[in-house]
Amino acid sequence: MKKILFIHGPNLNLLGKRQVKIYGSLSQTEIFGMLETIFSDYKFTFFQSNYEGKIIDQIHNANDSMDAIIINPGAFAHYSYAIRDAIESIETPTIEVHLSNILKREDFRKISVISDVCKYTIIGKGYDGYTEAVKKVEDLK
Ligand code: DQA
Repeated sequence: MKKILFIHGPNLNLLGKRQVKIYGSLSQTEIFGMLETIFSDYKFTFFQSNYEGKIIDQIHNANDSMDAIIINPGAFAHYSYAIRDAIESIETPTIEVHLSNILKREDFRKISVISDVCKYTIIGKGYDGYTEAVKKVEDLK
């Protein structure tokens, strides 16, 4: 059974309440439950933090223990070189997902400093981006 570490960065604990027109009306718990139901042949570890260092610790720990990481880094995508370095430092392949289309929003969101150390980046597909990311885990080496 493949093991996936699924990371939600800052403010994503507020999904379902936060800017629902952009991020949708499902709560984080509902999204995690949906993924577990759809992909019952995977073992997920779900992790959310508003703290950069805690996310980095999880990425480091995944190196020995997980087959893949799926991360929605939230706003850290746009400026966290430390998360980028963590992803680059481990062997575990990582997929980046953003619910919204960051290319069509404010200028500061158009850059992701982690994309080029990730195997895939999926943007602007809402929750379908998460299911697509899990399906992509099969294509990862
Ligand atoms: C986001 C996009 C980011 O710009 C934003 O800071 C988020 C959510 C997304 O899923 O679309 O927190 O990562």
